[in-house]
Amino acid sequence: MKIAMVGAGYVGLVTGVCLADFGHDVVCVDNDRTKIEALRRGEIPIYEPGLAELVKANVAAGRLVFSDDLAAAARAAEVIFVAVGTPSRRGDGHADLRYVHAVARDIAASVEGFTVVVTKSTVPVGTGDEVAAIIAAANPEADVAVVSNPEFLREGAAIEDFKRPDRIVVGLEDERARAVMNEVYRPLYLNQAPLMFTGRRTAELIKYAANAFLAMKVTFINEIADLCERTGADAQQVARGIGLDKRIGPKFLHAGPGFGGSCFPKDTLALVKIGQDNESPMRLVETTIAINDQRKRAMSRRVVAACGGEVRGKTIGVLGLTFKPNTDDMRDAPSIDIIRGLLDRGAQVVAYDPQGMDAARSVIEGIAYAESAYAVAEGADALVLITEWNEFRSLDLDRLKAAMQVPVFVDLRNVYRPEEMARNGFHYVGIGRPAGSVRADQAEAAE
Ligand code: UDX
Repeated sequence: MKIAMVGAGYVGLVTGVCLADFGHDVVCVDNDRTKIEALRRGEIPIYEPGLAELVKANVAAGRLVFSDDLAAAARAAEVIFVAVGTPSRRGDGHADLRYVHAVARDIAASVEGFTVVVTKSTVPVGTGDEVAAIIAAANPEADVAVVSNPEFLREGAAIEDFKRPDRIVVGLEDERARAVMNEVYRPLYLNQAPLMFTGRRTAELIKYAANAFLAMKVTFINEIADLCERTGADAQQVARGIGLDKRIGPKFLHAGPGFGGSCFPKDTLALVKIGQDNESPMRLVETTIAINDQRKRAMSRRVVAACGGEVRGKTIGVLGLTFKPNTDDMRDAPSIDIIRGLLDRGAQVVAYDPQGMDAARSVIEGIAYAESAYAVAEGADALVLITEWNEFRSLDLDRLKAAMQVPVFVDLRNVYRPEEMARNGFHYVGIGRPAGSVRADQAEAAE
């Protein structure tokens, strides 16, 4: 099939290259010329494992090209995917559909023959109707079916997720689009991925409901972890104990510093707005957002408590800045709030992240950066592990301790075992575990 992918951001790039890898002819279009030129030189603007190699192979095979000529791409395409950004609108939290609408207007004039227009961007319920109306108004001759095909990729595992999805959701109103979408995803039948056809509005809502549900699940175990600390229970065992129940499932039950990233914070907020607009309040989701915001701030109090109630003049080393491992994405990363809290209390902060330091420099001011975990430990009064990168999982504890001024280790991802850390002479603080945890009330007392 001839496919145009509009928007060479995270979702567009990953989806475009994976569809090319399926054997389709894909042109990735973006109006950022510099980005297109860089992509043509083989430079990938984001860090995602396996992406650079896959781009290279598909460009070499002639199945993937980059262009800034949307009109030409739309004219030639049988399917046009719209994967432009839908950031939170400043002030009100609604998804900002400016870019989606602009693309609809731009392609309306250029499409030739029956064309399926697929929204990949996460958009509020009813956006497909709007896109169809914009195209019809701009070009009454256009023969277009607008489809919703939400994306469930996780950063850091996006290619694997694309090739082995749990499901593919396709929302359509025009039956002609069904055969086309079947053809687009045909290679995935080999992996037996269920292709689920729904109405367009249903597909749009599925994306928000999925992300909000997962955000609630993480937030639930985070609150349980707080309760574990107060009651002497172990949150990791609680997670295992409930996760073995198939109705609950083991995933998304790792307690941590709170969720971040480009999707959960934005999509939970947008779902709350959709609920308000439709007089159907999303109360669990509203509460989830509030708990998560508080939690990120509470994590710096936990560090202060672990340091004996005072961090003024102390050097705190931070391991990991990105919102999760295997990405360079800093959007809504818990590290931002945690570090701000530490700086406000007069600490000096030195940080290291395997991929996120460039992005971090523009969002976190007033901290120093180091080139490795051991360099961060040099002279530190405490280490805080915020992102569970693999390279932080097997640190040389003796070397770390020898480098530090005071061996305090705050492990916000429960990467290490409390007994092991105690044996190695660390004052260790994890999340939701009896040994070596700071109880929530102690952390508050440190305020
Ligand atoms: C998410 C969804 O998983 C994906 O389907 C959707 O398309 C986009 O949003 P992503 O934001 O890449 O993907 O990250 P994910 O791995 O889902 O993690 C989200 C956040 O939750 C991270 O901050 C992560 O650290 C946190 N998390 C996740 C936990 O704290 N504990 C867990 O058990 C799982």
